[in-house]
Amino acid sequence: MKNNQSGIICKVVKSGNRYNAWDAQGNKHTHDITTGARKRAFAAGMALERRVNKSGQRYWWKVPMSMFEATENSSSQISPQATNVEVEVPAGHEEMMEFIQNSYSLKPKDLVINPLKWKYLIRSAVRGKNIMMTGPAGCGKTLAAKSLVNSLDRPNFYFNMGATQDPRATLIGNVHFEKSKGTYFSESLFVKAIQTPNAVILLDELTRAHPDAWNILMTVLDQGQRYLRLDEQDGQATINVAEGVCFVSTANIGNEYTATRQLDKALLDRFVIIEMDTLSDEEEHGLLQYMFPSVDSEELKKVSSIAFLTRSEANADNPRISSGISTRTSVEIAGLLFDGFNMNEAADITIYPQYDADGGADSERTFVKQIVQKFMDDGSSDDLFDVDEEK
Ligand SMILES: Nc1ncnc2c1ncn2[C@@H]1O[C@H](COP(=O)(O)OP(=O)(O)O)[C@@H](O)[C@H]1O
Ligand SMILES: [Mg+2]
Repeated sequence: MKNNQSGIICKVVKSGNRYNAWDAQGNKHTHDITTGARKRAFAAGMALERRVNKSGQRYWWKVPMSMFEATENSSSQISPQATNVEVEVPAGHEEMMEFIQNSYSLKPKDLVINPLKWKYLIRSAVRGKNIMMTGPAGCGKTLAAKSLVNSLDRPNFYFNMGATQDPRATLIGNVHFEKSKGTYFSESLFVKAIQTPNAVILLDELTRAHPDAWNILMTVLDQGQRYLRLDEQDGQATINVAEGVCFVSTANIGNEYTATRQLDKALLDRFVIIEMDTLSDEEEHGLLQYMFPSVDSEELKKVSSIAFLTRSEANADNPRISSGISTRTSVEIAGLLFDGFNMNEAADITIYPQYDADGGADSERTFVKQIVQKFMDDGSSDDLFDVDEEK
């Protein structure tokens, strides 16, 4: 039979007591294939090809493993996302422990995070803890939270709490009126999310949310309560959070974020806190090289060194600048270099606007400009601090 329109061929991989089916592009097809078929293919050392029968129904047919390997070789380069293999989380303790301890392999290559923190992140999620990622802006909190969500084979939902103007509508729902129906209530996506067993729910930028949102979330996040109060709806006063649901939130917490509302202590207590580290210059250089392999490595080294120097300065006892250049900005600069901008132009666009020009020669912007200029001349900052002392 030659009528397979899909051409998808999967290899079955055993993980714990699961038999998962993957195609060569890293897509998972486990849920498309019966357990029996997957087990049989695995036992026989064969691959599975998706075919379509005469009545248009799909089925999976055992084929020699060489056919899978052929698709592997012909497939274009696998993206970091695709190599970030999803897995099913095992149920028994032994297996669970092994899963957690081996979880570093699930981390996508484009996320730089301390291995212990990644392991703790996975562990907290599979143990149903509420997680809060903290750290300065642009250090990878959202990226880490999204990577975690991608790594676990669970339903997931994303809410940008910083962007919600109307917390009630976002978290609970809206009351509508129609002539034919009268007044009725339409529940929010969040209501659906918390009723989905084992869901991973991302609450991004929770520190920026309206305090009403925090109040609504109080009972939802409390391990002893875990319900949402729907006071708008008649009859059903509360909705319980389903089994296995885990919340992952992000928060900019640091002295540079006085503009962000202080997150209520009671709400903070409901989370396991995972503090994201800012990257060292080597780590950041490595990341930039990984992301932009065609950009001159020496140029990228300048970017990571400049960023690192500004961060060290911002953390010094008497800092001349209030914040350092974030990894997000470094990645942006590297992207500009990749697109043919020079370092001067990239700094003009991305770095200087972040620093206050008030005070002229003594301004933060002037200081940062000196750092950048120094690196552009000879790639070092050796004379920079002497220059300043002379003044
Ligand atoms: N630790 C990191 N590892 C890899 N990339 C990072 C890291 N931190 C920041 N980045 C880069 O910066 C961008 C912004 O990071 P993001 O996670 O949105 O920061 P925030 O901490 O503000 O949520 C990312 O898309 C990524 O390109
Ligand atoms: Mg973020």
